[in-house]
Amino acid sequence: MNVLVIGGAGYIGSHVVYELADAGHKVTILDNFSTGLHENVDPRACLVEGDMQDHALVRSLLKKGDSCDKHQPFDAVFHFAALKAAGESMTHPEVFTEANLIATMHLLNLMSENDIRRFVFSSSAAVYGNPEYLPIDEAHPQKPINYYGYTKLAIEHTLEWYSKLKGLRFAALRYFNAAGYDVKGRVRGKEQNPANLLPIVMEVAAGNRDMMQVFGDDYPTRDGTCIRDYIHVSDLASAHLKAMDYLVNEDKDLVINLATGEGYTVLEVIREAEKVSGLSITRETTERRPGDPADLVATSTLALDTIGWKAQYSDIHTLVSSMWEVYK
Ligand code: WQD
Repeated sequence: MNVLVIGGAGYIGSHVVYELADAGHKVTILDNFSTGLHENVDPRACLVEGDMQDHALVRSLLKKGDSCDKHQPFDAVFHFAALKAAGESMTHPEVFTEANLIATMHLLNLMSENDIRRFVFSSSAAVYGNPEYLPIDEAHPQKPINYYGYTKLAIEHTLEWYSKLKGLRFAALRYFNAAGYDVKGRVRGKEQNPANLLPIVMEVAAGNRDMMQVFGDDYPTRDGTCIRDYIHVSDLASAHLKAMDYLVNEDKDLVINLATGEGYTVLEVIREAEKVSGLSITRETTERRPGDPADLVATSTLALDTIGWKAQYSDIHTLVSSMWEVYK
């Protein structure tokens, strides 16, 4: 297959590009390198440096097809190029409107214009909002509590309409807490100024940050700290390939959680990192962070039933040790 991966130099996108190229697909990456890293680009992929908000560029790319050699039309588009800082989405919603909503809507129109009918979309656990029951399944009510989550949900709704009206076939993959690094060690670029737990823990262990904060230890959980469903990025990558195969073979849409059904507390993550690194992680316990639910875990049984996917690398040891390989 000839595929376009928008955001293919980013954290999740770069892992998916490696998997796609391993499986023999021809990959073109479009990335503006706002957060993507050149060192994460699979050398087998063809690279177009540019912004998906540059509609003329996207129009010509979709029209021309891959820019590597034969200019064959794209069979599918993967879209990872979005903003994801939930807190910032509440203070600067306009930026999220442009980058997440408008850019994606334009992309869908340009895909339609060029008769490209398969779309694999990075959705998020954030479409659900606060859990009304656990574990979260795909039928859980969708009430995002931040504008970031709303942008993902609004795109999912547009995808449903375009499926009905334009024959688009889409996979919306709702990631829970992505973490880890390529189990084959090929992606090694580190996120700058991370806000998520695992890279922060790694930076403290590696000495790039003096200490970290544990946001609250009085939650009703086994050790008082929040529980999250961490999913290894190599597991996410394999799910994307299976999702594309599903669109091709079944000619049906797919909306699935990508999670493990099992969660770890903040302290369990920190202790595992201390064990793996042999170093102590300096921390202080602070107030709860606003908007954090105590427990967020999800079922992925629908992913197993539809695309035969199950997490393989998302145990706490593999998650943490694959990251320490990069950060140490
Ligand atoms: C995990 C736990 C924190 C940092 C976010 C987005 C969500 C989705 C995944 C994309 C929480 C605690 C964290 C720190 C801490 N993104 N923590 N100290 O908030 O579960 O989910 O990423 O779709 O939309 O909101 O992830 O990594 O920020 O936090 O104690 O310095 O670690 O309170 O309990 P979160 P996270």
